[in-house]
Order: sequence, then structure tokens, then C-alpha cells
Amino acid sequence: MEKILFVSFHTRGVVGIRSIAGILKEEYLADILFFMDFEVMEPTSKKIKINYSKINRIFNDYKYILINVVEYTKKRVLDISKNINQKNRDKIVLGGPAVITNPDDFSKFAKHLCFWEGENIDSYLKNINNKKNIPNFNKSKAYYQIDDLDNLPFQNTDFNHYYFYIKNKIISKKKFDYKGLYTMETIRGCPFNCTFCTNKVYNQIKKSNNLKLIRKKSINRTIEELVFFKDKGFNEIEIVDDNFFLRSLKEIKEFILRYNKEVNLPLYLNLDMRSKDFLKKFQEINKIKEELTISIGIQNGDENFRRNEYNRIISNKLIIAFDKEMYKIRNGRVNIIYEFIWGHPHETESNIIKTTNLIKKLNGRIVLCKYIEFGTENIYPFNDNKILNFGNKSFLYIQMLLVFYLKNKNMKVRINNPIKNKIICKFFSNYMLLKGISFFLSTRANFKKRRKLQNIYRYLNKIS
Ligand SMILES: C[S@@+](CC[C@H](N)C(=O)[O-])C[C@H]1O[C@@H](n2cnc3c(N)ncnc32)[C@H](O)[C@@H]1O
Ligand code: SF4
Repeated sequence: MEKILFVSFHTRGVVGIRSIAGILKEEYLADILFFMDFEVMEPTSKKIKINYSKINRIFNDYKYILINVVEYTKKRVLDISKNINQKNRDKIVLGGPAVITNPDDFSKFAKHLCFWEGENIDSYLKNINNKKNIPNFNKSKAYYQIDDLDNLPFQNTDFNHYYFYIKNKIISKKKFDYKGLYTMETIRGCPFNCTFCTNKVYNQIKKSNNLKLIRKKSINRTIEELVFFKDKGFNEIEIVDDNFFLRSLKEIKEFILRYNKEVNLPLYLNLDMRSKDFLKKFQEINKIKEELTISIGIQNGDENFRRNEYNRIISNKLIIAFDKEMYKIRNGRVNIIYEFIWGHPHETESNIIKTTNLIKKLNGRIVLCKYIEFGTENIYPFNDNKILNFGNKSFLYIQMLLVFYLKNKNMKVRINNPIKNKIICKFFSNYMLLKGISFFLSTRANFKKRRKLQNIYRYLNKIS
């Protein structure tokens, strides 16, 4: 069998890679290379230097090198493509959201691009020298996708060989038995078109190519897949569908019933409050027997900003009412997380204050994501170190960040913040002190990341 190599900048959430590996499983031996430094350090850090001759030596062994690119790994992927030798560069096949949304940014540096989800990657690799006839890999050819997701093979979670690139060293392992979280898609697609989200571009491509907007796995196939991976040793499940509530009430009832009987592992889901029968569906998933964490995007506390800038129509009144209801209904095993985006360039001081106020009112735990604009270079979504670059707005963002830290702290969840309440009260009235504390927070976060890197490094060495 010919050998192919997947490249990943994350050990978690490799659902895309594993799905592609599942399609290619029968015909290729698949290995994987993880660039660990990017997972645990500030990605723009000057300290991350790649030794390309080491990478070339690995790449030499493979027929193809497959890389999934998202907005914030784009710069690294382009750096790799530019810096390795020509022979290896010609083996690279790039795909994933960043390639789909901005293919022209990549065409100069990579010979082979996949313009859509690589559900026909097998036929593409077979015809790599004549891709004129292959949908998805030739821009002039119609796009292709499998309509019934039950026909998608199971993911391949067992690679033939593992490389971990960490602190300029390569740790090579025949087996890497870490199981833990099984990440799965049961639905592909989202009917909404939020301005900041890749689905907006995906939906345009789907419409102009007559592709189905939403594709689903049946509940039966979903449960079969989960049971299969549970038996393999995975012990937590994350369903990464953009909105699990795109399913009907009937499907959700059936899912929970069977999940409780046949899977019964801690579960993570994304839900959208704009879904039909939202509370009724919540009542159903609330019947779960294991721990359930649900994540709901709110994005901004100002309903006008949400509508005008993000194209999300829902009132604050409804959000607050749903939050209250869910907290009345919810059993003790259900955790609720709300996601907000901060740092949009059009956000005004009044928008930020409204977001902070909504954050204060909601009962759930909060996650803040730094705004990423399509096509911009390399900004990591969960990075709050940039908070000081917003001029007058920085003060309000820091205030928002502190409310967020405090709120999460009161909920007894583990957070990276040692600040005591009384200090916070003091520095609300002192801008300079705020700057100091923000600097302290960011250095502390970096220190934690470095320590995590060292721990992983030690761990990998121990088991290799
Ligand atoms: C995968 S998205 C799913 C969102 C979910 N369907 C919703 O509508 O809320 C998860 C989260 O990532 C964040 N996110 C997505 N795109 C972003 C962007 N361009 N910039 C910053 N954060 C983003 C948002 O907070 C979002 O809630
Ligand atoms: S609802 Fe969520 S997944 Fe759908 S377009 Fe909006 S942000 Fe993207």
C-alpha cells in the first residue's frame, strides 16, 4: 500500500482528518504528524521555529501529504509549503475551510487544492495527474458531496505511525493509544448565514452548485458509530454539528433514549436558540443520564449589532427568557455555556457595555472568542492578549474580561485566573492598574502554556 501523511496543528478536534482518513483507509497506509508547539503556545510566537530539513526528511517517505487548513493555521501551512523542497511541495494536497473560502491564497504555493469537503478524495488521488474531470479539485468542474451522510465511512482514528514535532525535536511512535474524546459530525451544514462564519461562504457555493444545504446521518447510524468508538475505548463524546437542534423533536427523543441505553458517556453539543421548539428540545436532552455540556452562541449583547453586523436575529428578551427557563428545567448534570465574540472593528463602546451587561445577566458559563476576519493572518480565536490594542475600547474590553473571569469563578469552574474579588473592585477605578493586570494575565497565560508544553513533552518521551 502507498503511504500518505496527514499534518495537524492540534491533537484535539481532528474530525476532518479522521473522516478523510476513513475514506482512504482501505487503499493507503495513513500516518500523522502533529506540530505540538502551535497547540500550546501563542501561535505568532517568534519562539516557534521549524527545522524544515527535519520536515523534509519525514515528507520524503510519503506519496502524498494532506493538510486541513483553517483560518488560523493558514500562515503556518503557507510557511511550510514555501520552505520545504520542491519535490515535497508537489506532494501536498490542501483542503479545509480556509481553502474553501479563499482558494486563491493557496494556489501559488500548492499544486493540489480541494475546493470542497473531500468526500471524493479517493478518486482524486487516483487521478491526481488528470484532475480536470474530478469535481472539487478542479474549479471549473461541478462540486460533489455525498447526499446521505450514512454513506460516509466511519472515521479512522488509528493511524499507522505518529510523529510529534515538539520543541524542534521529533518524537516518533508506532502506537499512540490516547483515546479520550471522540469528536463526531452527525450533520453537515447550517441554514443561517452569520457574517463571521464559514457557513456563509459554504451556503453560497452550495446554492450555486445545487448542493444540499443540510445533510444528516440517521439516528441509527449515529448511535452505531458512537457504540463502535465507545467499544474502542473512547470515553467522552463531542458532537460538533453547528446546531444539533436542526433535528426534529422526534429525532432528538429517539437519540436521547438510545444514547442513555447504548452509549451513556459525557456529551458535548452545540445548540442554537433560534431553533424551532427550542425549549421542548431542551427538555428532551435534559433527560440525559450522563453529564451534558451544551454550548450556545450569543456573540454580542446588543441585539441591533447582532442583527446588522452578524446577521443574527434574536432579541435579548428571548435570550434571557430561554436562559431562565433552562435554569429552571435543567438537571444538575447539564452545563450551559454561552459563546460571545469580542473585538469586531465596528463595535462601539455602547455595544461592548451591552455585551458586558448581558454576560452579567445570563446564568450560564461564558466563553469569549476574539473576532477573526476571513482572510486575515493567523489570529488565534481564544487569545485575549490583544486586548490592549483597542485604544479607548480596551478599558471596556478588560472590564468585560474581568466580569467573565469573575462569573466563571463564581460557578466553580476551573479557570486560569488567580485574581481575588477585592483586587478587581480596586482596579475598576484605575486604568493604569488595569493595564498592569491585563499584562499580568497574558504573561501568566503564556507561562501556563509553556508549562503544559513541557508536561506533554515529558509525557511523550516517557511513553515512546
Ligand atoms: C463553530 S461556531 C458554532 C456556532 C453556533 N452554530 C452558533 O451559531 O452560535 C463556535 C463559536 O466560534 C466562534 N466563532 C466562529 N467564527 C468566529 C469568528 N470568525 N471570529 C471569532 N469567533 C468566531 C463563535 O463564538 C461561535 O459561537
Ligand atoms: S448559526 Fe452558527 S454555524 Fe450557522 S452560520 Fe451562524 S455561526 Fe455559523
